[in-house]
Amino acid sequence: MKNIILFADTGIDDAITIIYALQNPNINLLAIVAGYGNIDRNKTYRNTKYLLELADREDIPVIAGATRPLDGSDPTFFPDIHGVEGLGPIKPPIPEERFADQTNFSRLFQIIKEFSEDITIVNTGRLTSLAMAWYLSPSTMEKVKETYVMGGAFLVPGNATEVAEANFNADSLAANFVSQNVPDLTIIPLNVTREALITPFMAELINEQADTPLQELIFPILEFYYNAYQQLEPGIQGTPQHDLAALMAALQLEGLFHYERRYVKVQHEMGYANGLSIADFSPGSSDCFGTNCVKIATEIDYDLFASNVMEILTSS
Ligand code: BDR
Ligand code: CA
Repeated sequence: MKNIILFADTGIDDAITIIYALQNPNINLLAIVAGYGNIDRNKTYRNTKYLLELADREDIPVIAGATRPLDGSDPTFFPDIHGVEGLGPIKPPIPEERFADQTNFSRLFQIIKEFSEDITIVNTGRLTSLAMAWYLSPSTMEKVKETYVMGGAFLVPGNATEVAEANFNADSLAANFVSQNVPDLTIIPLNVTREALITPFMAELINEQADTPLQELIFPILEFYYNAYQQLEPGIQGTPQHDLAALMAALQLEGLFHYERRYVKVQHEMGYANGLSIADFSPGSSDCFGTNCVKIATEIDYDLFASNVMEILTSS
């Protein structure tokens, strides 16, 4: 059983990740930190609460994460991809303004201390809240066993810009800090998450077997996400589950990913290459060792991914 704290910006693929976590008997979801990203912070907070309410798991604390990047700039949101409310066509029946005054970050530190040395953090949103947690209480954060981050695009095109992936691009300062300072870090970049597709056929099978309010949400949000992706990448065979791939990596399923170890930097001086993830993959380069050496996923076993996703998302 893995004790997991998820840092999310609850849009569509984050929502699928939360649903998977709630359905998976091998995951003990301790808390969710909801920060700005795909949509604004109050909406990600509201969406997270809504999903937990549908699952009858309101015992899981939701922590209010960051509202903007570390450099103080205004965030850009992505309603075309995730919907105005962040869950495609779904409008949760709770006004997000209700969560405007949440200030419960210290709850996060309490939980980490309580489960000291036995906590895995999975970050599926911008890196701001995670960097802030390290700035606020490094001694508490050192008690985290391992950290998995969805972000970056190594030697492949980005999705936010020609070279940068969205989570790294939106707060490149935080992404650089995390990449260079968080120990036992694994990065699951676009290189592999682009291939982590839920096809329309899979989505229909999940829908046919859905018998809980949470499972019934999967099809409509994926259908919205699929249509959005058809505009972005015409002909793509399904919806890329960027965030779910990072959570699945944390479960260490045998053979799901192939990794290489490199030191990672993120271009954070703005300009054209803002958010570019940099690691040395030049001919003759090899795995690094030591504290700030990062495990980077470079290949995914798609059949294993698809069969595990179907098993968990259709389980009752
Ligand atoms: C990442 O950016 C967000 O839009 C997704 O939720 C995912 O975390 C993909 O680049
Ligand atoms: Ca996300």
